[in-house]
Amino acid sequence: MVAIVSNKREAILKAVEDMYTEVADRPAHPFHFPTGRRAAELVGYPPAELDALPPAAVESFAGVGYPFAADVIRAGDTVLDIGSGSGTDALLAARRAGLKGKVYALDLTAAMRTKLARNIAAAGAANIEILAGNAEQIPLPDQSVDAVTSNGVLNLVPDKTRAIREILRVLKPGGRLQISDIALAKPITGKAKRDPKLWAECIVGAVEEDAYLDLFRETGFKHVEHVSSFDYFAHARGEDTRLMAGYFGAHAITFRARRPEAFEQAGAPSDDAAIVRLARSAGGQFAGIGGAIAASTACFGAPVLVSAASAVGALMRNGMFCLFLGTVVAAPAAEQAHTTNPESGIETWEIATQGVSLRLTQILPDQVRGFYLARGFGAEAVELLAAGACVFQTVFRNESAPGAIEFNLADWRIVTAGREQPLKLEHDWQKEWAKRGIPASARMAFRYALYPTEHHYDIGDWNMGMTTYALPLGSRFDLRFVWREGGKRREAVLSGVRCATESPR
Ligand SMILES: C[S@@+](CC[C@H](N)C(=O)[O-])C[C@H]1O[C@@H](n2cnc3c(N)ncnc32)[C@H](O)[C@@H]1O
Repeated sequence: MVAIVSNKREAILKAVEDMYTEVADRPAHPFHFPTGRRAAELVGYPPAELDALPPAAVESFAGVGYPFAADVIRAGDTVLDIGSGSGTDALLAARRAGLKGKVYALDLTAAMRTKLARNIAAAGAANIEILAGNAEQIPLPDQSVDAVTSNGVLNLVPDKTRAIREILRVLKPGGRLQISDIALAKPITGKAKRDPKLWAECIVGAVEEDAYLDLFRETGFKHVEHVSSFDYFAHARGEDTRLMAGYFGAHAITFRARRPEAFEQAGAPSDDAAIVRLARSAGGQFAGIGGAIAASTACFGAPVLVSAASAVGALMRNGMFCLFLGTVVAAPAAEQAHTTNPESGIETWEIATQGVSLRLTQILPDQVRGFYLARGFGAEAVELLAAGACVFQTVFRNESAPGAIEFNLADWRIVTAGREQPLKLEHDWQKEWAKRGIPASARMAFRYALYPTEHHYDIGDWNMGMTTYALPLGSRFDLRFVWREGGKRREAVLSGVRCATESPR
């Protein structure tokens, strides 16, 4: 999985918060999307249900559909409302869950939470708890809720894949989901550009309908069922909005889905998950050499490329499939992405800048053990790498730099709390292995597994290998990476990288 963690992502979240602060604090203000009681009735809320709620909850309603048409909430349920806003859905969910049930109402925007707290008090709803936070990192334990409801929110979330994984994580096995959100009839063309303000306002961030529902299926949800569609933007105030929405076929959908009863039923395990299981079974007891070889093949062979492709796909889903209205703003030069495999917990950081790209994927200590034990390293030597350093699968590419590039890993720097240090390079390790009498064949295997120290890349060239960092497991750092292009020095920073831990979950 992919999170856009550059300034742009922060800008999107800030724009979203600004917009919904307005909706909370100035509900009578004419927004270019439908709000309030009129909007709620328009999208299908029965007037009698709205009559039973505090008017201040409904006046800041900004949903796009009637998720309760999917009807997944049962008496006694613990429910999570993601992006609860001023509380229309949280209050309705609390009625359905009853006093034996409970509703967590999560929202990013402080003004919405403040308003929600007043509305909960006005309704006397003792079974709602407000949570401050982001859908990309839900502040609830694994498998803690029976049902999730959300209305008009995921199209605003920069990293939808991560949010969907979070929903899967917090749902109990067999847990249910109902969502109303914006989808598109056709994908966005290359002309669509990023604009944080527009992201917050409109159709923005929306995904083509089939791709949207497939994201849920790919993440592991079952019984993903479309319930209804609604031509939401036909009721937008601005003509431009209506025209653009019409062009892309932007509309509201309501659907339901379930988390499978047993995790294994969620479909074929991802490559990374298989890697972890293989590595654990091999590396856990250091006995099954066959298993260790299988683990090492899975770790460093083709499956890594497969996960690269899915990371890029996720980037496109999260970044490229955005529909913006009005102003077109140039994309920033560097774009950084962060993904977490939902099954294995393995994290990847990726950046594309100035015609090159760099990707680091955590290699777990057990994966390192499995790989090197199978190649003739002793257990003690392997521990120096597995637990005494951080190891990342690394891919560096000359995507389209103006010409050939050169680089030397000796120039790259790990930056932690203002302190800089070099990477631990192949020759550093080889000195150690020679001192310890590691067999030549094992040292050769080590050499080929590590990312070569010096390189010349023509356009389109790339390589994959391990890079190592003399840091404790779990450390966070920025990586300043450097290359030369036509004799000129270039550099960029991959920020917020985290070393693997013994157990990622
Ligand atoms: C379109 S409004 C819908 C509010 C509410 N569901 C309703 O139907 O009235 C979107 C809400 O989601 C919240 N939100 C947006 N992005 C979020 C995120 N990444 N995490 C949590 N809440 C978010 C906003 O603050 C806002 O209150």
